[in-house]
Amino acid sequence: MQPNQTIELNIIDLGMEGEGIGKYEGYTFFVPYALPGEVVKAKITHLKKGKNVGYATLKEIVAPSNNRVQTPCNRFGRCGGCTLMHLDYSKQLEYKKKNLQTILRKNAGYVGEINDVVPSTPFAYRNKAQLPFGMVNGKVAVGFYGSGTHKIVSSTKCFLHGEWLERLIKITLDFANDEGLTAYDENTRKGLLRHMVARYLGGKMVVTLVINGTTIKGINRYVSALEQEFEGCALYLSPNTKDTNVIMGNTLIPIKPTPQSVEIMGVNIGVNPFSFFQINDEIREKLYNYVIDKVAPSKDVIVVDAYAGVGLLGAIMAKRGANVFNIEIVKEAVVDANNLYEKNGIQDKAINVCGDASIELKKLVEDTQSGKTSAQNVKFAELIASGKKVKIVLDPPRKGISKEVADTLNELSNKLDFELIYVSCNPATLSRDIANLSSFSVSEITPFDMFPHTPHVETVVSFEIKERL
Ligand SMILES: C[S@@+](CC[C@H](N)C(=O)[O-])C[C@H]1O[C@@H](n2cnc3c(N)ncnc32)[C@H](O)[C@@H]1O
Repeated sequence: MQPNQTIELNIIDLGMEGEGIGKYEGYTFFVPYALPGEVVKAKITHLKKGKNVGYATLKEIVAPSNNRVQTPCNRFGRCGGCTLMHLDYSKQLEYKKKNLQTILRKNAGYVGEINDVVPSTPFAYRNKAQLPFGMVNGKVAVGFYGSGTHKIVSSTKCFLHGEWLERLIKITLDFANDEGLTAYDENTRKGLLRHMVARYLGGKMVVTLVINGTTIKGINRYVSALEQEFEGCALYLSPNTKDTNVIMGNTLIPIKPTPQSVEIMGVNIGVNPFSFFQINDEIREKLYNYVIDKVAPSKDVIVVDAYAGVGLLGAIMAKRGANVFNIEIVKEAVVDANNLYEKNGIQDKAINVCGDASIELKKLVEDTQSGKTSAQNVKFAELIASGKKVKIVLDPPRKGISKEVADTLNELSNKLDFELIYVSCNPATLSRDIANLSSFSVSEITPFDMFPHTPHVETVVSFEIKERL
């Protein structure tokens, strides 16, 4: 066998990235866009000889699966955004549950029940777009990076976003090309427009143009066009002249800084280009409701949210009476959290701590026990002494929680009764963390389909403290 050779494969499974898996002459082959049950012809692109693993591209479907569906998007297969759109949506949910089962069994030895994946509306679910600019046939275009590359596949719409994106792309490209602007080229590091970042929440639009510079000529024309299409919108420029994969620059130039806010589950929250929001409104609400159900917030409950972002989840629970301790590492997010609680009249219900969960969680508990005084320790000690129940929520980024956080929670479980709820966006780090949380047993696992047509899944795990010996 060698690269460029075409082979015929029976596809027997789907991999973690949504690729079809087939066996050939003792090798395991990964073939993107092939489905289990299919017979396909695939061209070998790469062989890992020592590992008996190969990669191939789909050339022909000899016998299709009954679960293969027609995709509405004519960029599917070229744009790197979706890898599962060709699989019937109900089967995507089954695939995500099965993958989660496999990885939790393999890395955490977990063989218990997993609830069915909570489904989403499969299309137009994203409230945020981040599209790179590029030059196509001498004109500015936006689109998505082709799978595994930094080459632009130009797009005028995307089925994962509502029609608002189509309108925004049109206005932006008309403006850029009428003004004769240029798109940034990663190789030469020349050209102005880098990314169009847009958040469309509750009918309000916030656009940020990330640029290799500090100004855009004729920007007022863009403001007028935007305002006509998206009344009350906000516009920022974000200079980013660095040769980096980080999209946003560190600063914002307000061009039309209309203050934006939305009401989410009874909490009024400001939206700015740096704020983190779950990207699927429907699933965010289902997931938050599920976590809130587990926490059962009331004045008799203390919630510690260890990766709190701007503290939205805690704010919803504080509104329902809970006493909240938010821990968040990004300074700006903590400033936003303080404003959020103030604006919603719940500042007395919460303390927003800025710091690393690995350190702050330990400090909150140990300093409280050793009688050290800080505002948060005094409050925490008071609440614990009055017999309130403690619920700890972890919602870390993709890299999961650190070993220190797991160790702190294991130690804490010997001293304090509490429940633990972990929201994960990465099954691999989740499975490692379940194994590290050795003083806890899993009481329920529910996956949520935050990202239809991609292999990603959001998972909520509830833990109980194992019986102490
Ligand atoms: C997945 S977001 C969750 C945000 C929030 N729970 C929500 O639903 O909007 C993860 C958050 O953890 C923060 N973070 C990352 N590493 C952290 C750490 N070591 N300690 C505390 N917060 C951290 C990030 O800045 C981010 O706001």
